[in-house]
Amino acid sequence: MRNAAGGRGWPGHAMPDQPAQQLPRDAYVDRAWFERERRDLFGRCWTCAGVAQDLAKSGDYVTVKAGDYPLMVLRNGSGTLRAFHNLCRHRGTELVEGSGRLERARISCPYHRWTYDLDGSLRAVPMRARCFADLDTSAYSLLPAAVGELGGLIFVNPDPHADFVAWQAALESVLWPLRFERMSAGLELTYEIHCNWKVFLENAIDGYHLAYLHSETLGGPRADRNVWDVHGRHLVWYSTETGRKTCLPEGIARAGGDSGQLPIEGAESGEYGGVFVLFPNTIVTATPTELIVSRLDAVTADLTHLHTRVWGRKGGEWRRWLGGENVEDIPGYDPASGLLRLSCLEQHPLEIGDFHWEDVWICEKLQRSLRSPAYRCGLLAAGAGAEAPLEFFQRNVLDYLTPVPGSTQDSSAGQPAIAAPDGG
Ligand code: FES
Ligand SMILES: [Fe+2]
Repeated sequence: MRNAAGGRGWPGHAMPDQPAQQLPRDAYVDRAWFERERRDLFGRCWTCAGVAQDLAKSGDYVTVKAGDYPLMVLRNGSGTLRAFHNLCRHRGTELVEGSGRLERARISCPYHRWTYDLDGSLRAVPMRARCFADLDTSAYSLLPAAVGELGGLIFVNPDPHADFVAWQAALESVLWPLRFERMSAGLELTYEIHCNWKVFLENAIDGYHLAYLHSETLGGPRADRNVWDVHGRHLVWYSTETGRKTCLPEGIARAGGDSGQLPIEGAESGEYGGVFVLFPNTIVTATPTELIVSRLDAVTADLTHLHTRVWGRKGGEWRRWLGGENVEDIPGYDPASGLLRLSCLEQHPLEIGDFHWEDVWICEKLQRSLRSPAYRCGLLAAGAGAEAPLEFFQRNVLDYLTPVPGSTQDSSAGQPAIAAPDGG
């Protein structure tokens, strides 16, 4: 059955005709609100942990945080993806860091060397007979989390019972046509952005600004020449400038013809979504020449890391669009931190000719305004290619944060019981 939002079996919202701001100022600046999001939104949603190629062989692992939950995903001995909470069952120490391949197909805690196999079972406990005479190892397996794969992307959820099928079903008919295995992985960048993660996300789904903030870079399209389609809680963007739905603004598509970039097999037509916003914080940008996967990591209420990875055609010249072959060559790169920072640009962000920096600049400006007690949000522009997607997104966020009417208070945590909007 399809719901009003177009997703099968997944609650959501329709695109509003007359949008209005749903979130209060606190949602963007308040620490308590931020903590609720980390626990009740990111702690119960699907976070992108990487791509299947990161986990090509048995023992390969990646780590990621979903809100307050450190998680790990690995490929076990039979080739199946498994996800666990990245916590030792002895005294809870974080087990592994970053990504890599586990030695001897074992996860060994660095603290007292409790050791687990790739299915999370506890296999070795030093000094067991003397220190833990009655230990039942079967009761101390790693805590499971949920894992799913969509279009080559790996997602994890701290809740082992979370429903990935419902989360991805809303998208299955509109997935990007690009395949990671046919492309080469290129740059991996992290932008440090001094704004709330929702300020950046809402900027990404605001079709109203494209023709104005980005007049010299993207050059549009106007609000009546682009559209965000609803798929469950997800959004997919298209340019409609040519009368068809395509993945690129016309100005970029025309300029791309002269750039020397080579199209990727299967993606040449451009007649697919150009941007996929996978609720809540994954952004996939698909073009005929590259695939960009970004995750917004909410660091504090007013600090966000945009973690971005780029894939392009094998042997292609596609890295140049970023302004450099290597991360170190990209304007704004800070060698001390490895982050891309607005404060490290040598030019004004509007003079660089890169729409990413225009977005970072405007989001930081909006965040500074949000700090003012005089801040008021005015009107949202009507249209699915304007600012209606902002209300849609905000309603989905609120679904995860709204107390259940009439519910009892959770006195142990001092917090209201939280609605469980769906399994996704
Ligand atoms: S905390 Fe991991 S072995 Fe002690
Ligand atoms: Fe933008």
